[in-house]
Amino acid sequence: MNVQTSGLFISFEGIDGAGKSTHITGLSEALSAKGCKVTLTREPGGTVLAEKLRTLILNDAMDVLTESLLVFAARRDHVACVIRPALARGEVVLCDRFTDATFAYQGAGRSFDLQTLTTLESWVQLGLQPDLTYWFDLAPALAAERLSQARVPDKFESQPVAFFEAVRSGYAARAEADPKRFARIEANQSIEQVFADVIAVAKARGYL
Ligand code: TMP
Repeated sequence: MNVQTSGLFISFEGIDGAGKSTHITGLSEALSAKGCKVTLTREPGGTVLAEKLRTLILNDAMDVLTESLLVFAARRDHVACVIRPALARGEVVLCDRFTDATFAYQGAGRSFDLQTLTTLESWVQLGLQPDLTYWFDLAPALAAERLSQARVPDKFESQPVAFFEAVRSGYAARAEADPKRFARIEANQSIEQVFADVIAVAKARGYL
């Protein structure tokens, strides 16, 4: 459980195409069936203001400092208006991406200064971190294959495989720095097996 709250905060991470979305819904249903009140949300986004910023972040060209500031501005609104209040009510917050994505995409992917990101993280989160972060790990070449069959790509999804190699290494570094929080999920398996792994982690932690 999060030190400052009575609720439970779980984030979901991975490169584009790693296939986390179905499993977020599935875990939400499993937790609800157990009687938990679940708040499902996402980043960038999760509030009216943050969703407006999401549209800019995902579609407009900008330098990486601007992008990082917008991501953290969206996060500030989301943490203050949605995440902290839900945790204070004792709910389970399932968040599709959080700050690890900023370290992976802006930090590792776009080579932005990690110390600046760490400062922004502390300003915006004031110590708040997920209790558990699922990292759906998939080789970028496989993720690119999956994405090519999906929707029209946004600014990040249309990046080359080399960008996602860097993003993946960013996630690996975050996981290595905080192994207790992270659960790496092998995403190169059947949907059923990936979901079984997701459920097993939640059970092992006593959440289900
Ligand atoms: P999604 O497609 O999983 O909703 O994620 C939106 C995109 O935004 C995805 O390509 C990752 C990117 N992103 C960042 O670059 N930095 C961030 O801090 C977050 C949360 C997402």
